[in-house]
Amino acid sequence: MTKVTFISADGIKTVVDAKDGDSLMQTAVNNSVDGIVGECGGSMMCATCHVYVDAAFADRLPPLSDSEDEMLDSTVAERRQTSRLSCQIEIGPDVEGIIVHTPEEQQ
Ligand code: FES
Repeated sequence: MTKVTFISADGIKTVVDAKDGDSLMQTAVNNSVDGIVGECGGSMMCATCHVYVDAAFADRLPPLSDSEDEMLDSTVAERRQTSRLSCQIEIGPDVEGIIVHTPEEQQ
């Protein structure tokens, strides 16, 4: 289990114990976290799983793939330097304690 914290645009914090091997998007959906929809089920076709990764954790993630980079150009909320698709972030020891912010427009 890996601890993950989601913070909504209005500051509501949801802390969950995520199952290793799941994606961050699956974790959010399984725990009814507002602001992460995951419409396409994780196949990088919808961008409704867009999150802003807390700057302190951004370096711990693998670099963007070309497809993720492209899809991040179609998010409803503005793209920032820390934008990622949560369906592409795998839960595991490398991301223990990760904090992500969900965009207001996805709620
Ligand atoms: S769930 Fe659709 S792009 Fe991530």
